[in-house]
Amino acid sequence: MEDKKILCVGLVCLDIINVVDKYPEEDTDSRCLSQRWQRGGNASNSCTVLSLLGAPCAFMGSLATGPVADFIVGDFTKRAVDISGVAWQAEGETPCACCVVCPASGSRTVVLSDTNLPDVTAADFSKADLRQFKWIHWEGRNAAEQVKMIRQVKLYNDSLPQQRRITVSVEIEKTREPLYQLFPHGDVVFISKDVAKHFGFHSAAAALSGLYSRVKEGAVLICAWAEDGADALGPDGQVVHSDAFPPEALVDTLGAGDTFNAAVILTLSNGGSLQDALTFGCQVAGRKCGIQGYDGIVGK
Ligand code: ADP
Ligand code: FRU
Repeated sequence: MEDKKILCVGLVCLDIINVVDKYPEEDTDSRCLSQRWQRGGNASNSCTVLSLLGAPCAFMGSLATGPVADFIVGDFTKRAVDISGVAWQAEGETPCACCVVCPASGSRTVVLSDTNLPDVTAADFSKADLRQFKWIHWEGRNAAEQVKMIRQVKLYNDSLPQQRRITVSVEIEKTREPLYQLFPHGDVVFISKDVAKHFGFHSAAAALSGLYSRVKEGAVLICAWAEDGADALGPDGQVVHSDAFPPEALVDTLGAGDTFNAAVILTLSNGGSLQDALTFGCQVAGRKCGIQGYDGIVGK
């Protein structure tokens, strides 16, 4: 079988992560337990996890030049993520996030400076050779433009037999109205607890039933709910559930959702069932919550 890649389109940023023993109070001056730089951004994190899980993968997003971009490129290279689709911007700064991770409470707080860097456009996307991909995942950002990219994939797919078509997934994580136009465009649609709550739902299962009418025919809708695990609903109308797999101790929950998405996508792209995908997603995400960063999510 040909080894086609999984492409993730979305944000890459620098995460400056401060590990603290207790969340800092406003207007105080405190010390952190440790501090590190880490490549971040949902699509970028999902690539890290896909790569660690042994899946050939690629990232498409925007990067400025300079020391932050150099760090990010070095890390993509270390993880063997193909970044030939990166749109380099002559002007602007690569986004940076100040992240506070508190193992004692399991919380993570992110303050992102999503700079003036333009997101990748449908014109950028049209330069990609789609034949190298079996799955393309979009982290919802510049949704109107992303819909145009997905239309390009649909056109490409229309000329191919079912088994050679690219599967499309989208993530709607932020509660921003324009992102909701992505619902009918994914074969697989990930929504966050925040989005579910925004629509007035108090559980993943309720959100799936309530929002399923927004997805296209035959699509799968998935909603992760932190320590309550995750649920999914497909065209057969059965809600599938996996409990979470809590680690012995919560260490770092930053990127748990991105880890979950990657493990679900990998399972489904290999022909696994929805139940297998949810279970594996929760297992890998649970393992991630028990370690700093991503090294060590495989094995054990
Ligand atoms: P994020 O906030 O990063 O988007 P989610 O809250 O959506 O992440 O969680 C994604 C998955 O990560 C969950 O389905 C669960 O399997 C795992 N997870 C997240 N937080 C915890 C936790 N506190 N304990 C165990 N598993 C967790
Ligand atoms: C984690 C993450 C971080 C980044 C932030 C952006 O899910 O992608 O790496 O700083 O979210 O919203």
